[in-house]
Amino acid sequence: MQKLIVGNLKMNMENLSQRDTYGKDFLEEFKQMKTKNHVAVCPPMIYLEYFYKLLNKTGVSIGAQDCFWELYGSYTGNTSPKTIKSIGAQFVIVGHSERRQYNHETDEDVARKVLMALRVELMPVVCVGYNSGGEEIDNVKEQVEFIVKNFSQDEIENIIFAYEPVWAIGSGKTPTTDDVHTMIMYIRSIIAATHGKECAEGVGILYGGSVVAENVTDLCTKTYADGVLVGGASLSPRKFAQIVRMLN
Ligand code: PGA
Repeated sequence: MQKLIVGNLKMNMENLSQRDTYGKDFLEEFKQMKTKNHVAVCPPMIYLEYFYKLLNKTGVSIGAQDCFWELYGSYTGNTSPKTIKSIGAQFVIVGHSERRQYNHETDEDVARKVLMALRVELMPVVCVGYNSGGEEIDNVKEQVEFIVKNFSQDEIENIIFAYEPVWAIGSGKTPTTDDVHTMIMYIRSIIAATHGKECAEGVGILYGGSVVAENVTDLCTKTYADGVLVGGASLSPRKFAQIVRMLN
């Protein structure tokens, strides 16, 4: 089965020269890369077009790190999913724990963004695992259920979930493969409870949190994850390419 490997570049590359250096190195790594998997990179919004044009012929897809929940209108500072799609992006990360934490995004906000992303055929990567207090498993349940209950089976099949335990993000710590596997099965069971087993089996579920070349094979294959969401390690094109190669 093809895996999806998504690089989340977060708020990095603080000027054009850093962007160009990263872009050049990334192209060097990926222009000859042969992979059976699907690779995507999510740069800061302002560099979306640059990366789309740069990577157009490499087979690497582009995604945004967020979008707004309306397609057009007077919403100063926000970016419409329609605009993101028009640039050539295929994916949009929604509900990352950093957005839930620093921008106070709620499950309702996340669902509204997912709705609009689907409307313009952008594939939302919905992050779950942000701990707003209490047990992690209860938070995941609440976050997944909110999406599952608000979308039809057809819509759910076009949504990707990313299980990202908040304590694993950027910490160098990862859950055991058994724990990741259990959580992935749990997320599937929540989807199955509303939309049936067949639908649940078809939904992509990624793992994210301190993924590096050394742990990606275990975290992705032993856990039956459909891929990985990579933050820190994707800031180095070389390290990101190593991750992709490990899954070949
Ligand atoms: P990390 O970030 O790989 O640096 O832990 C993952 C993420 O925030 O998506």
